[in-house]
Amino acid sequence: MKQIFVANPKGGCGKTTLATQIASYYAGQNQQVALVDHDNQQSSLDWLKCRPQGCAPIDPVKAYNGYNATVNGVDWSIHDMPAACSLDDLKDAIVGDAYLLIPILPSPTDIKAGVRFLMALNRDPWFAEANIKVGLVANRVRSNTNYFKVLVSFLEQVNMPLITSIRDTQNYIRAMDGGVGIFDLPPSRVVTDKEQWEPLLHWLSASP
Ligand SMILES: Nc1ncnc2c1ncn2[C@@H]1O[C@H](COP(=O)(O)OP(=O)(O)OP(=O)(O)O)[C@@H](O)[C@H]1O
Ligand SMILES: [Mg+2]
Repeated sequence: MKQIFVANPKGGCGKTTLATQIASYYAGQNQQVALVDHDNQQSSLDWLKCRPQGCAPIDPVKAYNGYNATVNGVDWSIHDMPAACSLDDLKDAIVGDAYLLIPILPSPTDIKAGVRFLMALNRDPWFAEANIKVGLVANRVRSNTNYFKVLVSFLEQVNMPLITSIRDTQNYIRAMDGGVGIFDLPPSRVVTDKEQWEPLLHWLSASP
């Protein structure tokens, strides 16, 4: 089983959006997928409740308020972490090899919060020993804004890979509302979005 954690203590940066999109993508590839919601806002589970009949199935797993998040028998477990999740919470949740995806918005407060989180992660001896493949995704990007450039140049300085940039589009809001992924929307509407997902899917295709 491969496991992906989507985390960033900053609220509203796109954790649930990425987690649900990834879950929907792999389910559509005939993979067995569990979507593990660690957030008592239950946004991932709410999305799953809207999933139309006939869409590839995804197992819902509650992992908040003391529910046990043990997942077995799937190809992918995708973990949607809550806002304000501490590094210790993350360390408790990650057992074994994992991908850690960090969505980050190109805005000053989000960049500062993201930097703090990445520095804490890098300093932690647990991280040095764990087999965790970390990648950043810039989310809600309006191309060539100054803050996107600031984000890119900062990530270069700290040698953290920016896997891809995801644009700000109603397609993600529509997909969230309908319990689907952008890959399920009319192809002509998501040409750019599919291109933006290619590097991330490629990154996930190599082992952590
Ligand atoms: N690329 C995007 N384009 C347009 N809207 C987006 C995009 N990504 C996220 N959103 C919207 O931004 C809001 C916050 O996104 P999301 O819920 O995924 O963030 P989150 O990090 O899970 O938030 P929280 O910290 O509250 O759990 C949602 O309304 C979502 O639909
Ligand atoms: Mg969320």
